[in-house]
Amino acid sequence: MTVSNRQSVTKAIIPAAGMGTRFLPATKSMPKEMLPIVDKPVLQFVIEEAVESGITDILIVTGRGKRAIENHFDFNPELETFLRQAGKDDLIDQVRDIGDRCQIFYIRQKEQLGLGDAIRLGRQHMGDEPFAVLLGDTIIDPPAGAAPGLRQLLDAYERKRSSVVAVHHVPKAWVSRYGIVDGQPEDGDGPELVRLRRLIEKPKPAEAPTDLAIAGRYVFTPEIFDCIDRTGRGVGGEIQLTDAMNLLAHQQPMYALAWQAKRYDIGDRVEYAKCFVDFALRRPDTSAAMREHLRRLLEG
Ligand code: G1P
Repeated sequence: MTVSNRQSVTKAIIPAAGMGTRFLPATKSMPKEMLPIVDKPVLQFVIEEAVESGITDILIVTGRGKRAIENHFDFNPELETFLRQAGKDDLIDQVRDIGDRCQIFYIRQKEQLGLGDAIRLGRQHMGDEPFAVLLGDTIIDPPAGAAPGLRQLLDAYERKRSSVVAVHHVPKAWVSRYGIVDGQPEDGDGPELVRLRRLIEKPKPAEAPTDLAIAGRYVFTPEIFDCIDRTGRGVGGEIQLTDAMNLLAHQQPMYALAWQAKRYDIGDRVEYAKCFVDFALRRPDTSAAMREHLRRLLEG
């Protein structure tokens, strides 16, 4: 495929197969992607971001113990009958809406071989099309009035017709928790869009070339699949997507977009708690009571 005739992006992969060990015991029988932020599961936020960005076809990579995900996005006739009888039709719409706005497919990752391996499982479904990846345990919260996170990335993809990854600045001491990227803006681009030279998964602080960390949203050309196939086991003995991206960056142009959006890694307890409080403070139906509660707590 030539660079000029690459089509627009309508498909996405959401990896949601990780064991969630950082969140035990809650994740022993419940996927971390189903943890609620007030009353909505994390994964529903992720899928809404994808749909609001123009994605219509979503492949979720699940694994053992993740059946609750399929049930959540399925119709539930008993619940719908119950809600209708109780006169709560608005709740029916909320439950149904997301499943009506996109098609959701599932595939299971049988062994925990890493993020690169999870993405590879989408090869047949994605075919020869560009596609997005949204990590299922990461909520992206753009500033008020800004486009959804993935939409910002797709706009950059449509301009460059090349793979793009979202990044954000992190404290130097944190670089070994992330994939770190290195590159330079090209002539005519702002400082937020960087042409990538090198990517390293979880480097030691002394070995990290920058503080730009991969933020859990990606848009790929289909050539990423061949790069994953050529990627051996990396950090943690897993097939790392970042290592495959490093190969891709040496083969075709690839960019990183440093955005202003806030990012919550739900697999981390403190981040989860912060996300819950931030969203509860913002929602019209919970905001006043939460604000009052926190004010009393801090005063007292
Ligand atoms: C994964 C990626 C890493 C990225 C991070 C963002 O790591 O491998 O490059 O920076 O997600 O959350 P994980 O959090 O699965 O260790």
